[in-house]
Amino acid sequence: MAQIILGIETSCDETAAAVYSVEQGMLSNVLFSSIDEQKFYGGVVPELASRTHLQKINEIIDLALTKANKTIDDIDTIAVTNRPGLPGSLLVGVCTAKAIAWAKQKKIIGINHLEGHAFSACIENTIPFPFLCITASGGHTSLYIIEYYGNYRVLGQTVDDAAGEAFDKIAKMMNVPYPGGPQIETWASQAGFKDFFKYPRANNKVINFSFSGLKTAVLYDLVKRNAYDLPTKQFLQDDNLELKQQVASSLLVCVKDIFIQKLTLALSQHPEAQAITFVGGVACNKYLKQQLSQFAQKKSLPFFAPTPQYCTDNAGMIAYVGSYKAARGEFDDYDLDIL
Ligand code: KG4
Ligand code: ZN
Repeated sequence: MAQIILGIETSCDETAAAVYSVEQGMLSNVLFSSIDEQKFYGGVVPELASRTHLQKINEIIDLALTKANKTIDDIDTIAVTNRPGLPGSLLVGVCTAKAIAWAKQKKIIGINHLEGHAFSACIENTIPFPFLCITASGGHTSLYIIEYYGNYRVLGQTVDDAAGEAFDKIAKMMNVPYPGGPQIETWASQAGFKDFFKYPRANNKVINFSFSGLKTAVLYDLVKRNAYDLPTKQFLQDDNLELKQQVASSLLVCVKDIFIQKLTLALSQHPEAQAITFVGGVACNKYLKQQLSQFAQKKSLPFFAPTPQYCTDNAGMIAYVGSYKAARGEFDDYDLDIL
């Protein structure tokens, strides 16, 4: 049976819904982000996020159905993120999905948000298995070997901060509101992606990442340059655009080197890998995408990254994972819970 899946994603600050048809591909992928309301607080406030999900979820689902030119009666299965994420936010998506599924007698599947990211590059591309995948977002940084749909293994992950979190925290040190990643990219590009300050790269032989150390190294480098006052947590050179550009540029080059170092290690352990993918919000970064693509080319491997709509949190990737799970009959019961 040709499946049509309604995807719902509310694990963090995006209220998102998408409709995916196994025969026709992604029919709609819509979201509302509460980040503009939250910028004032310097990050995501869980209580605010869950309240906004409650206000927006029905409207966003309606919009996704309308854009897809479908009604709820056309939907076969509801795929909803039920892990990991902010509990209050996840609950809104899961309770909404269960209510619709029960009322309309639809199948339901709980989806791991990280599996959504891991397979997000497959939505728009045919990727040969097995492949290596770097997922880099504000909450997660992991390197996977992906054997087949739904069959993947973590080779390494961050032991502290995620890559996007490091961008956000370092940008915040320089008075940039959350999320800081895009501003880091703009400044780095203005400085020509050169390595001015040579921040430390951990060069150990494990695939795990640690971005908290990098954040601290940048902080102490700013202190050394009389650009940051630790006791008052004040950035002292807000009018020094050149310094901000050089910090951003050095940071991006450093993160690029770390990603390439870990990919090199992963490839030596998994010479069977047929491709490299780069996904998650940080994969919006054109410089990192281009550098990882060049690395893959040198290794004679194809490289894939999703278009930005499937990099940052979205329901399209949740509906997509739902489609291959539905094809295998991997449904949940109506007592599905958050994990
Ligand atoms: O996947 P995502 O939307 O949400 C999470 O699951 O966390 O990722 C958001 C992260 C933020 O940390 C943001 O700063 C980062 O992605 N990001 C970027 C860029 N665009 C977004 N980082 C670097 N360069 C960018 N252009
Ligand atoms: Zn995410």
